[in-house]
Amino acid sequence: MLFNDQVVWITGASSGIGQEMARQLAVPGARLLLTARDEARLQDVAANCRQRGAEAIVLAADLFQADARVRVAEAAVAACGRVDVVIHSAGISQRSFTEGTDPEVERRIMELDFFAPTAITHKLFPQFRKQGGGMVVAIGSVAGLMGFPLRSGYCAAKHALHGWFEALQVEHDIPGFHVLIVHPGRIRTGISKNALTATGVAHGIMDPGQKNGMPVEQCVRRIIRAMERKEHQVLIGGKERMLLWVWWFIPGLYRKLAGRLGGK
Ligand SMILES: NC(=O)c1ccc[n+]([C@@H]2O[C@H](COP(=O)([O-])OP(=O)(O)OC[C@H]3O[C@@H](n4cnc5c(N)ncnc54)[C@H](OP(=O)(O)O)[C@@H]3O)[C@@H](O)[C@H]2O)c1
Repeated sequence: MLFNDQVVWITGASSGIGQEMARQLAVPGARLLLTARDEARLQDVAANCRQRGAEAIVLAADLFQADARVRVAEAAVAACGRVDVVIHSAGISQRSFTEGTDPEVERRIMELDFFAPTAITHKLFPQFRKQGGGMVVAIGSVAGLMGFPLRSGYCAAKHALHGWFEALQVEHDIPGFHVLIVHPGRIRTGISKNALTATGVAHGIMDPGQKNGMPVEQCVRRIIRAMERKEHQVLIGGKERMLLWVWWFIPGLYRKLAGRLGGK
């Protein structure tokens, strides 16, 4: 494991992909900084990481709030004097038709899924320069590559995230700095339960597609491999990955398939 002597900051560490990233990266020597809103859950995750031999520090924050992003980024740098890797996993999805969705819901999704990771990355640039590099892992989505029904605000946020971090990949001149963009397909986590509906209330349902998705442990193993190999983009999932090929080569078929599959 290449990250056993590194300071790794994970947002969205209280559940799903972020929690599993913390578990798998919790090896002796590693120092993990864990962020989400639910401090009690973060403390449980931290205790589990410590049992596995890592140091773990809880930095609870509500990343919907612009000032909280600034404060938590400063706290992350102050905690260990450096941040070698930041994994932007905090995020929220959507389950509602575009027509009828309160635009405020779209704004909330943009705030968490786009403005939070980019604002935190902005805050970390001086530290990456000072320490001679670092790694940013942006957890995007296949919804950041293609459009899916019931997720227009989410697709918009993930497309924006993809564009921002891809532009960063090709323009930065920070020595030793690396950006990995991850595009998960359907991974078995609580994301559909936590997704926002038209009025901003949680969907509360484990979608069949989610329930039958890739186990989160497998997804995270692939992310860590991509980090170790310094890959630039990685698409992770089951047969939904084929959709990208269909989207590119047979767009008419894609529109039919996505319309049918996306609602599940
Ligand atoms: N699972 C999938 O199929 C899938 C597919 C594609 C992409 N992704 C992406 O993967 C990432 C992780 O999703 P997941 O599947 O692990 O979902 P999840 O289990 O719902 O986890 C979401 C995480 O984000 C945190 N979060 C939510 N609102 C927050 C806020 N205002 N401030 C700080 N943290 C907040 C949650 O913690 P608190 O509630 O404690 O704040 C939780 O730790 C997301 O970016 C998601 O878009 C997931």
